[in-house]
Amino acid sequence: MKGVVFTEFLEFIEDKFGFDISDEMIENSATSTNGVFTQAGNYPFEDMLSLVQTLSKITNIPLGDLVQAYGEHLFSRLITIYPKPISVYENTFDFVSNVEKVVHPEVKKLYPDSDLPTFEDPVIEGNTLEINYISSKPLMDFAKGLIIGCSKHYNEEIDISYDLIESSPKFKARFTLTKK
Ligand code: HEM
Repeated sequence: MKGVVFTEFLEFIEDKFGFDISDEMIENSATSTNGVFTQAGNYPFEDMLSLVQTLSKITNIPLGDLVQAYGEHLFSRLITIYPKPISVYENTFDFVSNVEKVVHPEVKKLYPDSDLPTFEDPVIEGNTLEINYISSKPLMDFAKGLIIGCSKHYNEEIDISYDLIESSPKFKARFTLTKK
């Protein structure tokens, strides 16, 4: 998992919960680098899992809620760090339907070692977009948070839900976005 996902996570946690909680989380997590991450590095997904599990225990906030909140925050950070994709699309459905074809391929050019999910079979019908998420990692709530962040960027009110369809050999979920 790319270092930028870790460096932004640690900043987010320090802003939201303060230095002491952030420090307690790092001290009590089993990470491969003892909590030291750089933006361009690459670290095991298990490191992120350990950090979020520890934080969930410390704060009593369910893991999925933490991951979703982080995803929502990260969207605005990603488009600040990499502004190119956001300038091309005019709304959430447009953006989300093009993550696979345009946004993530740009990320892959920058970081050939990145391990990105697949988004496939987008179907737009009236006020609804359905799209499949496929990944080696169960990051549905993270994806949901990113989509919430995207809809806030475009000032659109959108309900987002997903159904898990498969969890082996990969995680597959069907997302439904409904404009209110
Ligand atoms: C609504 C829009 C987006 C969605 C739904 C989305 C979804 C995701 C998800 C779920 C992951 C975690 C990896 C996985 O599940 O296997 C991920 C990773 C990532 N995404 Fe996106 N993404 C979005 C937009 C963006 C944008 C705008 C950028 C930057 C231009 C970006 C860059 C990245 C990077 C750098 C990673 C980490 C890859 C790694 O750890 O190797 N994403 N994305």
